[in-house]
Amino acid sequence: MFNIRTKVKALLLNDATNYEATVMGWVRSFRNNQFIALNDGSTNDNLQVVATLGNFDETILKRVTTGACIKASGQIVASLGKGQKVELLASSIEILGDSDAEKFPLQPKKHSLEFLREIAHLRFRTNTFGAVFRVRNSLAFAIHKFFNERGFVYMHTPIITGSDAEGAGEMFQVTTLPLDGSAPKNDDGSINFKEDFFGRSTNLTVSGQLEGELAAMAFSDIYTFGPTFRAENSNTTRHLAEFWMIEPEVAFNDLEDNMNLAEDFIKYIIRYAMEHNKEDLEFLAQRLAEEEKQKPQQERAEMGLMEKLEFVVNNNFERLTYTEAIEILKDSNHNKKKKFQYPVDKWGIDLQSEHERYLVEKHFKKPVILSNYPKEIKAFYMRQNDDGKTVAAMDILAPGIGEIVGGSQREERYDLLLKRMEEMHIPAEEMDWFLDTRRFGGCPHAGFGLGFERMVQFVTGMTNIRDVIPFPRYPKNAAF
Ligand code: 4AD
Ligand code: MG
Repeated sequence: MFNIRTKVKALLLNDATNYEATVMGWVRSFRNNQFIALNDGSTNDNLQVVATLGNFDETILKRVTTGACIKASGQIVASLGKGQKVELLASSIEILGDSDAEKFPLQPKKHSLEFLREIAHLRFRTNTFGAVFRVRNSLAFAIHKFFNERGFVYMHTPIITGSDAEGAGEMFQVTTLPLDGSAPKNDDGSINFKEDFFGRSTNLTVSGQLEGELAAMAFSDIYTFGPTFRAENSNTTRHLAEFWMIEPEVAFNDLEDNMNLAEDFIKYIIRYAMEHNKEDLEFLAQRLAEEEKQKPQQERAEMGLMEKLEFVVNNNFERLTYTEAIEILKDSNHNKKKKFQYPVDKWGIDLQSEHERYLVEKHFKKPVILSNYPKEIKAFYMRQNDDGKTVAAMDILAPGIGEIVGGSQREERYDLLLKRMEEMHIPAEEMDWFLDTRRFGGCPHAGFGLGFERMVQFVTGMTNIRDVIPFPRYPKNAAF
């Protein structure tokens, strides 16, 4: 057996000294031909490994370079140096993997996030990305824990589908037909997808919701957590072409139950990360504070990262209707002084991210749940309100991010749903399986989707969504 080692995190948490230990990890730096800063990814903190002068062969020491992978054994002793309580006094050092110092792109200095994005395969080995992806991992675990504790069934909905769940999404097509013009054609010249792999045209899913609804009509409480794909040409700090979404769907919930679930859920997972990733979050808070200092005063966030998270878990989200939000926006000085790119002049407009951010960052200064949107700007499956104009939709808006959750109570009334589908030109015959849930034992139900990366952005304070997913996919980029 080779893997007999202690993780750096465990060694640093333990105050004991004078015992033998073996560590393995990657060299962050090597000072004075004597002090190795070793990191194994278990924590952002490095273990100091001391190679006492004269005890090691020069040929070994030459290979202790930034990026190299080593195994070191020796005594854990009290550290004389500053910044750590214990260190490893090495009696043996073995090189597991060399790293050519001339060529290794990461140097023991600050690199820009843009540069690190180009070497996403190596950025895991930096402090910032170490912290980000440990927090991402914790949030993912907390999501499963939250739903598991509440008796939800984790449902795997398909990645390849024949349906367009949102009725509007731009989708990536999935096909095995040749692209060189030789694909089989119908009489009218269009591609004959009957000849395609699935015997029909298919795409990558934009949401697991519709399949999730089917499962909720049997298990009552389900959630999905998987990748979703949108081929929208959005080059923003909040959009990815491939992102992960969590979609709970709950039988017998109405819109208010849905909001309560979403708020409890968000607070729970933030609290989990605060308890389990204290050092990582403190590191990220520090990083963000430095980034903020570069900005002009009026653009700086009012709260630091820790303060913001603390505030969010300890305060109620502000709840208001779309109609109330429009009134606030319309009457705002910001609107009167024409500072919005899209002026707010009438009820019915779709809210732009500048409007959402005004509400959360300037007006309420806390997360906001907006509900009861005009039916014209929302999906066909949302439950129609008695006013004939709005649907039982809800979006949660977060400071610094904008929309983080989108959801609704679903239209469970067969006739109304069918009529809405017709109005919105959604082919009912292709959605027969979905309509079956309304034909056979339908019931009031509701659900929502949380964009996982936007949540990770919120908790880590990272400005660009491309820096919170290991290998981001966005227009003109699918490297790695
Ligand atoms: O608001 P959306 O489009 O809602 C749905 O897909 C529903 N089917 C959810 C449901 O009711 N089950 O997307 C939900 C969330 C958004 O609020 C946002 O956080 C995230 O998914 N999202 C994206 N995240 C990153 N990149 C993109 N291109 C995203 N599009 C949506
Ligand atoms: Mg939405």
